Amino acid sequence: MKGVFVAALGLLVPTNALLRFGCAKSSIQRLDPLVNPGQSPSPHLHQIIGGNSFNISMDPATHDLVKQSTCTSCQFTEDLVDTDHSFHSSNYWTAVLYFKAKNGTFKRVPQRAQQGIESTQGGMMVYYMSDALFDQAQKSKVTAFKPGFRMLVGNVNYNNREEARNFRQLTYICMQNEGTREPETINFPDKPCPAGIMANHRFPTCWDGVNVDSPNHQDHVAYPESGTFESGGPCPKTHPVRLPQILLETVWDTKAFNNKADWPSDGSQPFVWSSGDSTGYSSHADYLFGWKDDSLQKHLDGHTYVSAPTLKTQSIAQQNKCTVKDMVGEDYDSWLKALPGNVMVR
Ligand SMILES: *[C@@H]1O[C@H](CO)[C@@H](O)[C@H](O)[C@H]1NC(C)=O
Ligand SMILES: *[C@@H]1O[C@H](CO)[C@@H](O)[C@H](O)[C@H]1NC(C)=O
Repeated sequence: MKGVFVAALGLLVPTNALLRFGCAKSSIQRLDPLVNPGQSPSPHLHQIIGGNSFNISMDPATHDLVKQSTCTSCQFTEDLVDTDHSFHSSNYWTAVLYFKAKNGTFKRVPQRAQQGIESTQGGMMVYYMSDALFDQAQKSKVTAFKPGFRMLVGNVNYNNREEARNFRQLTYICMQNEGTREPETINFPDKPCPAGIMANHRFPTCWDGVNVDSPNHQDHVAYPESGTFESGGPCPKTHPVRLPQILLETVWDTKAFNNKADWPSDGSQPFVWSSGDSTGYSSHADYLFGWKDDSLQKHLDGHTYVSAPTLKTQSIAQQNKCTVKDMVGEDYDSWLKALPGNVMVR
């Protein structure tokens, strides 16, 4: 019975090269359990999605993501374990975008969900790709992350184009409308973007095959030696294992800040990351893998679907309800005299 059903679907839905799902905001706070474990507050503000076991410290030796979450803010809940109510509970986070007004105060830029999932509160769109984004049929094999895997992409201290080229796939799209996907730039757009600024975070896709983490959370992974993941670029010998490409899309809803009269009179653009960067070159994102056992591998091995008939999903209302309590307790939403943490703009 089941086989017939799957075969019939197979005719209608080609096996796709990616998993794509929306995630609501689970919290916004000054915590970073990857880079600053145990430190509350961490230096700058983050927006976080995923499982609700997100915490100040998440040492994989003591903090098993899968077992400690009771919900996830993401659409797929494939890994719900009925006996102990565990959810698949990866966590993903990025810095937060602020608008700097002419009078020197800052206002947090809200996030907007994409078309089709409009009622999702804040959050991001998450992709796990085994081929290029627009490939309909799956061609390649990728090796899913192992338990305890974590990584960081980008560098919070970068402030020029040459440095930013080290992470050539962290980009911005100035959205003219919902469908705009190009051009991509590695600096903040210099003109108002009517439908918002999309920040894209593509994580490295080559792994050393041994370490699930490294002291700087980066050395165990690498970008392809040449080209990109999407173009099928080869992995370097030092990092021979091809991982799925994680892409995070965050749409920063700049509508309230697009009046040119409110922009700096020197012609510069008014947006800054919560880390103080006004160029866009310091874009970065963090990932903690939390899929249960080999479930991600199974979904990537030729049974992955954009519309995910094989994956359990939850309603957007349920996603929105999965929040993490504010453990820092600071105001990040008023017109602020300084960025949270008194971070200086540079
Ligand atoms: C966060 O960690 C603290 C200390 O380990 C613990 O008491 C608390 O229950 C954790 N919170 C969540 C939401 O897991
Ligand atoms: C600064 O400018 C913003 C935007 O125009 C305005 O909403 C806010 O009230 C101003 N704050 C002060 C202290 O003037």
